[in-house]
Amino acid sequence: MILNKVNKLEGTITVPADKSITHRAVMFASLADGISYINNYLPSQDCFSTLNIFKQLGVDIEQTANLLTVKGAGLHGLKCPDGYLNANNSGTTTRLLSGILSGQNFSSTIIGDESLSLRPMKRIITPLRQMGADIYAKDDNYLPVNIKGNGSLRAINYKSSISSAQVKSCVLLAGLYADGQTFYSEPEKSRDHTETMLKAFGADISVDNLTVGIKKCDKLFAQEIFVPADISSAAFFIVAGIIVKNSHVIIKQVNINKTRSGIITVLKNMGADIKISNIKEISGEPVADIEVKSSSLHSTNIDGKLIPSLVDEIPIIALAATQAEGVTEISGAQELRVKESDRLKLIATQLNKMGANIEEKQDGLIIKGPSKLKGCSVETSKDHRMAMMLSIAALCADGQTTVEDSACVGISFSNFYGVLKQICK
Ligand code: S3P
Repeated sequence: MILNKVNKLEGTITVPADKSITHRAVMFASLADGISYINNYLPSQDCFSTLNIFKQLGVDIEQTANLLTVKGAGLHGLKCPDGYLNANNSGTTTRLLSGILSGQNFSSTIIGDESLSLRPMKRIITPLRQMGADIYAKDDNYLPVNIKGNGSLRAINYKSSISSAQVKSCVLLAGLYADGQTFYSEPEKSRDHTETMLKAFGADISVDNLTVGIKKCDKLFAQEIFVPADISSAAFFIVAGIIVKNSHVIIKQVNINKTRSGIITVLKNMGADIKISNIKEISGEPVADIEVKSSSLHSTNIDGKLIPSLVDEIPIIALAATQAEGVTEISGAQELRVKESDRLKLIATQLNKMGANIEEKQDGLIIKGPSKLKGCSVETSKDHRMAMMLSIAALCADGQTTVEDSACVGISFSNFYGVLKQICK
């Protein structure tokens, strides 16, 4: 994609549905008894990976542009698949699915693309083995992961050393099948969509601060769900509206769940003009309109405590920090090295190529601002969030920017450039 500097951004937009919630809705509906309706699901490559895998596992899913109709197979009704289950680029699919497959009576193997095959799976293998799962992986850590469902899981009390909603959800889903009550604790609260949605489907879930408990379950009950807009997709337009001069952007009805909205807190701390209005609740999740105007930013510090609530927004927050007065330090963000790409490295190398002043630390970034950005050719490692962040950087960079492999935006936001065009003036 070739992009040029813009004069201003102006308009009211909607962004697509939440990726995390869509994955979960498809999975839980597949395991429920009865017909679930998933309105406003996210039609992105990652979610199609989940959808196709559950079809392969024998679930009847009807798909129209805006609605998924899922005839649930029940907790014990999935079928042994023909061939491998391909999660492509999706970590959420792989890790949540592994918890479900551990509770089945058949053997299955998950594979993925080049990026997913480099991402660590030991974090789910360890607790699943403690629960009694027969699970094998390349070098005990990487895809392909083979799970020989043995139908006999037991509850554990697991204290995770990382705050990861994918690991938490994996253990909770295995917990649906495990004798007794499974407990999972994490150092900081990660996104809680699994807890909220599994409860709505009828699971016996209890939340006590950083510990979640789940009891073995006989049955989940079909639901009607409306998936709200994804704050991780809105984030690119929130920052764009703040750092591009003379801008005013409104993003309608975005999920502002507090386990996801750390970006709003951080940008407000940096002096951004952000207004939240029209707060409602949809399918157990809070949504609101987010209005932003161009602002003069100053630096801030972001430490490990905040990271889980903005883990996918670090690339775009780093861009905001390049335009802020002073030194912004991000720490405790080592998880970014094992996302769709090594994001700490890519943020630093690619934004520095554009004229930023970013020093890479093992667990974060030191960003000295403000920097005048200039257009050039930038690499994305086919990482969707890197492609979108660099495209926003291009809007305030002098000259022309070429974002390589920009089609990867389709992992989470296929019409990203269409929505961007609506507000570029
Ligand atoms: C996700 C959790 C996060 C996030 C990912 C989606 C989820 O990963 O980065 O994009 O849907 O549970 P971790 O939980 O591994 O940090």
